[in-house]
Amino acid sequence: MLATPAPYSLRPMTVDDIPAVLEIDRLSFPSPATAQLYLNELTDNRLAHYQVLARREPSGETLAGYAGFWLIADEVHVSTIAVHPDERRRGRGEWLFLNLLLEACRLDPLLVTLEVRTSNMAAQGLYRKYRFQEVGRRRRYYHDTGEDALLMTVDFAEHPDYCAWLAARVAADFAV
Ligand SMILES: CC(C)(COP(=O)(O)OP(=O)(O)OC[C@H]1O[C@@H](n2cnc3c(N)ncnc32)[C@H](O)[C@@H]1OP(=O)(O)O)[C@@H](O)C(=O)NCCC(=O)NCCS
Repeated sequence: MLATPAPYSLRPMTVDDIPAVLEIDRLSFPSPATAQLYLNELTDNRLAHYQVLARREPSGETLAGYAGFWLIADEVHVSTIAVHPDERRRGRGEWLFLNLLLEACRLDPLLVTLEVRTSNMAAQGLYRKYRFQEVGRRRRYYHDTGEDALLMTVDFAEHPDYCAWLAARVAADFAV
């Protein structure tokens, strides 16, 4: 797990996190997920890996964000990432995404893939910063708005140095 400066820490998502995750979901997506979806992901989906970025204060813990992926055969597919609006543009999304990619590297996949709304420039900026490339478009992928999805990937066969590059980035920019 990537080390993060206090009072933040990354840890696996638990069932107890679901209400706070749903609140961030509600503030982040046109069609938020349901409690049942997260419950299934955490208890029934052995392919799923979810992390939260927690903020610990003397008064208690709050969630700053979360991210998740599925490992499907040789592919890591990013299923979600979101940061609470009050915490955005301070590097929190980058911590979550970098940690997810480090976890992915440990699983030694051939490919990391994700879909992103064509209008979502913030997320695309994050993904491009981590060398994801646009490889396709899924027409009207999002039924809530009818928007297209861009399919973005990092192909480890084309970029065999990718995990070493990530590790070097952590050493240079994320030492706590
Ligand atoms: C996408 C998201 C997770 C980014 O989280 P964040 O904590 O604000 O991002 P960070 O501060 O860590 O920024 C990391 C990089 O993302 C990109 N980025 C983040 N916000 C951006 C914005 N508003 N515009 C353009 N690029 C942006 C930049 O490349 C940034 O790197 P930089 O600081 O060197 O410019 C956040 O905007 C979010 O939760 N959005 C709603 C949910 C969502 O759209 N999830 C993605 C689903 S595909």
